[in-house]
Amino acid sequence: MSRLLLGITALSVAVAVVAILWGAGLLPRASGSAAFPAGPGLGRDAPQELVAALDISIAPDGAGLPPGQGTSQDGIRTYGQVCAACHGNRGRGGMGGRLTGGIGTINSDDPIRTVNSYWPYATTLFDYIRRAMPLGAPQTLTDDQVYGLVAFLLSVDRIVEPGEVVNAETLPRIRMPNRNGFVEWWPDPPVN
Ligand code: HEC
Repeated sequence: MSRLLLGITALSVAVAVVAILWGAGLLPRASGSAAFPAGPGLGRDAPQELVAALDISIAPDGAGLPPGQGTSQDGIRTYGQVCAACHGNRGRGGMGGRLTGGIGTINSDDPIRTVNSYWPYATTLFDYIRRAMPLGAPQTLTDDQVYGLVAFLLSVDRIVEPGEVVNAETLPRIRMPNRNGFVEWWPDPPVN
């Protein structure tokens, strides 16, 4: 056997031995060893308070609604102070858009799309106001204030009665006027 051939054979035997030892876990591996940390070492675990502050989505069925409550009387005060400048008297519209009225127009030639005439779930109103409004200072309202604002805006169209308590229990039970005005496109488009 030539020297070159002997060399190649010895090398492949050595590679095979290393591969077998590695496969059997008998050689040190990169992950978890002191020299190489398990992950890329970026970031840190998010603290519980941070996760809670970001995790504010409210499901249509009301899952995630916080404790607290409000009535239209509570809400009308807050509305006048922080919302009316953009959304007008009783939500009738301004530069921030119309929030109330228009019920029954969605299926007409001249639809007026508002929260009260169009949105399928009242729970979304809590999510939206708490998350995004007032425009210049989102997430500055207390949960009680948001419940009050929801009660007030819905009361303008008598979706809730004046004085009715809106909270995590009552809000998911409110039936929006356009609740059945949506079609289900999944898994198949509707047949006309
Ligand atoms: C500085 C002006 C401004 C203020 C103040 C303001 N809004 Fe708005 N609001 C807007 C604008 C602009 C939009 C539309 C945002 C968009 O479509 O992205 C909006 C959208 C909304 C919507 C969604 C409407 C829809 O049909 O999609 C709701 C609900 C709402 N605001 C409620 C409130 C409430 C309640 C307050 C008071 C806490 C408030 N807003 C304060 C400007 C404002």
